[in-house]
Amino acid sequence: MNAATGPLRPTSGQLALAQLLAEGGRKREVGITHVDALAYTDPARHVAEQARIFARAPLVIGPSALVAEAGTAVPHDGFGKPLLVTRDRHGEAHVFLNVCRHRGTRLVEGTEPVCSPRLVCPYHAWSYSLDGQLVGLPRPDAFPGIDKEALALKRLPTREAGGLIWFAFDEAASFVEADALGQDFDAFGLRDMHLFRRRTHDVAGNWKLVMDAFLESYHVARLHAQTIGRFFKDGVASADTIGPHQRSAVAREIDEAAVRAGDWPTLRSAITYTYQMFPGTVLIVSPDYVNLMVLMPQAHDRVLVEDFMLIPEPPATDKARHHWEKSWNLLDGGVFASEDFRAAALAQQGLASGALDRVTLGTLEAGIRQFHDQVERHL
Ligand code: FES
Ligand SMILES: [Fe+2]
Repeated sequence: MNAATGPLRPTSGQLALAQLLAEGGRKREVGITHVDALAYTDPARHVAEQARIFARAPLVIGPSALVAEAGTAVPHDGFGKPLLVTRDRHGEAHVFLNVCRHRGTRLVEGTEPVCSPRLVCPYHAWSYSLDGQLVGLPRPDAFPGIDKEALALKRLPTREAGGLIWFAFDEAASFVEADALGQDFDAFGLRDMHLFRRRTHDVAGNWKLVMDAFLESYHVARLHAQTIGRFFKDGVASADTIGPHQRSAVAREIDEAAVRAGDWPTLRSAITYTYQMFPGTVLIVSPDYVNLMVLMPQAHDRVLVEDFMLIPEPPATDKARHHWEKSWNLLDGGVFASEDFRAAALAQQGLASGALDRVTLGTLEAGIRQFHDQVERHL
């Protein structure tokens, strides 16, 4: 991974959102709109979304820090196929199918990172390097003329940009927008951050209900009244798009002089930037740490959400560890699990009853409108 060079600077897009906040936020002109309840409750929709969106689009699998060290491999099962994220000895990140090329055995078990220069299949001990090459097999005399190169692990298109690792099931997927977003994430120094904690939540709600919760600020003063609500001005937000992705910002008091001067440390201390990456990734940049959420739909009414918390550097003291622990508990356990994800599960319960044909969106929920338009466009 590259070391940061010089002080971090905002991108023009990040500054433009700060400017809009200083002017009192963006007034969206969309008016009231609706989303069909079936978008959340129909099992056929889930199947179609899997085939037309998740099987095709570039997906974030995790932060670069998931495989911080060369020689690390992490099994990953949330997207319906056994995957393996690795960083090879040259520092390159890969996403492979976690499947031995001999007779198809799952190569690495469990879900925890493994640090090893070789991955050895538990069945007959074929071994692979972390760039996927088949490097050894016992009793090679039993495989006369074998072409080892043709039996490398199956690699999926992979791209690392701005501190995130993206992959796609579709060989034709383009990572142009992953690179564009990477410029914004470099402004936060994301690629050099340390993975403090990760946890997978099993949420009994449609994945889009979870995305919806991160696409509007209308609920913040209400649902989050006991946690983070007081940190933000009610309903004051700014947002724009990068390809199919959205970028938004909410803030405490904004210093207009800091916007004019492009004073990034001052702006960062006041603004929370959030990136809603299509289809199902959310990156929330708090002033001093970052949460990345990767949504992995399992059914029309169930989604796994892996939450990663990234901090500037490994905690050096107990005091520092305690400080980050508190932030982790506040966001992961409090704001997300007990508030946003709970709201998604409650919405699923209500919508599944058939009481509503459609949900109603106001002008503070225009981000949800854009997201669902994007989903529809792909179906
Ligand atoms: S199945 Fe992996 S070595 Fe035989
Ligand atoms: Fe929320």
